[in-house]
Amino acid sequence: MARKLIIAANWKMNKGPAETAEFIGSFLPGTEELSQKCDIVIAPPHVSIPAASSLLADSVVALSAQNVSDQDEGAFTGEVATCMLNELGVQYVILGHSERRSIYGESDEFINAKVHKSLTADLRPIFCIGETLEEREGGKLEEVLRRQVSGGLANLTAENMADVVVAYEPVWAIGTGVTATPDQAQEAHAFVRSLLQEQFGSEVAAATRIQYGGSVKPGNSAELMNREDIDGALVGGASLEAASFHELIANAVA
Ligand code: PGA
Repeated sequence: MARKLIIAANWKMNKGPAETAEFIGSFLPGTEELSQKCDIVIAPPHVSIPAASSLLADSVVALSAQNVSDQDEGAFTGEVATCMLNELGVQYVILGHSERRSIYGESDEFINAKVHKSLTADLRPIFCIGETLEEREGGKLEEVLRRQVSGGLANLTAENMADVVVAYEPVWAIGTGVTATPDQAQEAHAFVRSLLQEQFGSEVAAATRIQYGGSVKPGNSAELMNREDIDGALVGGASLEAASFHELIANAVA
């Protein structure tokens, strides 16, 4: 089954509203053509979403949040609810990023609650998984991915899965400049797809897009995206500069 590429910019804690507007101004020209072969998504920090939302409104570029609460409203200081993102036209939300797992202690169960909350609100989760170097070297790669997939995607239906994008991001490759080789990435992606097959059946496994993340750059996006089970990228560092993110996507679709 042909899966359309999806490449998303994860800006993390970078770019306020002014820088967001500046980026979008220089990034948009040419995106219409790129979007024929690749869905393009930008995930700014929450406070920059209003600026991004109005500038992206008539464009082919989709808007994502980097996190969302598992609650609807109320006494949850510092949190942002799905309905607030809906109001701003947000379409995707990154969940379970390794920085949220390791720095903020988010568990598979908590991430699963957010996945359910997002789907109920018509937000598409970009659901992140990935092993640390220690886990990989300790022979635990498959065990970790299995736990993250079965826990984070627990109690979802095959229908739900049509709105879920999975991002495989080996923690040792995030922000380090060390990219998994296309072989390493392909191998992990094929394994993740086999887990989706066990959990949801072969149709869902064949249709689900699995992004690779971890030091994706303009110079390596093509060789990664050429692999059978790699359907896009979640990009941190190389998405912060409009020209570099543009080039990364252009090389991926070429
Ligand atoms: P990186 O980050 O591209 O800077 O490695 C990727 C991510 O954390 O999503």
